[in-house]
Amino acid sequence: MKKVNVVTLPGDGIGPEVTSVAVEVLKEACRHEGVEISVSEHLFGGISYEKHGVPVTDETLESCKKSKIVLLGAVGGPQWDNLSADKRPEAGLLKLRKELGVYANLRPIQVYPSLAGASTIKEDVIAETDILIVRELTGGVYFGEPRYTSEENGDPYSVDTMKYSRSEVQRVSRVAFEAAQKRDGRLCSVDKANVLESSRMWRKSILEIAGDYPDVELSHMLVDNCAMQIIRDPKQFDVMVTGNLFGDILSDAASMLTGSLGMLPSASLGGENGLYEPVHGSAPDIAGQGIANPLAAVASAALLCRYSLNLESAAQNIENAIQTVLKNGLRTADLYTEEPGTTLSNTQEIAHLLLKAVSEREMVSF
Ligand code: IPM
Ligand code: MN
Repeated sequence: MKKVNVVTLPGDGIGPEVTSVAVEVLKEACRHEGVEISVSEHLFGGISYEKHGVPVTDETLESCKKSKIVLLGAVGGPQWDNLSADKRPEAGLLKLRKELGVYANLRPIQVYPSLAGASTIKEDVIAETDILIVRELTGGVYFGEPRYTSEENGDPYSVDTMKYSRSEVQRVSRVAFEAAQKRDGRLCSVDKANVLESSRMWRKSILEIAGDYPDVELSHMLVDNCAMQIIRDPKQFDVMVTGNLFGDILSDAASMLTGSLGMLPSASLGGENGLYEPVHGSAPDIAGQGIANPLAAVASAALLCRYSLNLESAAQNIENAIQTVLKNGLRTADLYTEEPGTTLSNTQEIAHLLLKAVSEREMVSF
């Protein structure tokens, strides 16, 4: 059997619970394709701070770079909210993204038919929505320099810098153009070019390369309008490309189309590296209770098969297993709406059905 090593960083809160389900499902789906997954697990985020005094150690970073494939749970929690900026769990995540150079963050927003009723938005508005958000992940205001806090006439102030270079915009845009070529051929670039210099650079830079993709229809939208359009008529979008901060905000908004933030997977790609993480956070309020929704972590494992292992059939096997769980009416609390034919379920029960579906490679019924 071919062997592949994956680094797992379960992290904080519900991270470990959902990651362990994702790992089991990943191993099973890959075993079917003749690939044996071995896992090296490391502390990451708040739990790493507790043991090592930093959210990510150099050793952990090295091991991620060596493996090139990383599956992450979630980081953060109220007990670490008052740490200095560089010690916070989130700082570990940003450092990991930067060091791995994973500049293109793919966040597919897919509405599963059996969940259309779980969204707070009307069913006919969201039905069949299928958007791919490509968020720039290693630049923009998240990383721009200078950033500091100072004081002027006794009035403290802080500065962050939103900076985008042509090359940064063009490399992530190429990922988005290529994705659009494989989908419906439409790409919407989202910016704030009516106000921000960095957005005008963004728009100019993407226009410069648009000619390389004559089969893709490129449009531009201002981010405030986009936030509204995502809720008003999400079906108008195919692929969307945007900067780090706008993508962060728009993807949380778009997640509600799927019924829950607990449904959204993500893949962060750059060079040969792939970092896979659910979009949801560590949800400390429900951690350790066995009720977390593992489906976003499991769907992230499917993306890992697709993009890092080139095992499309394993990816589809996992995605079918998710559909099976939903069709069977199993819902974690974040998705449960007392709809007839559904039952309130938990992490373990869902894990069990996922594994059964993956190993049988077909729709199983309860
Ligand atoms: C996300 C998260 C992170 C981000 C945080 C935890 C740093 O919200 O992945 O969307 O802002 O990128
Ligand atoms: Mn976010």
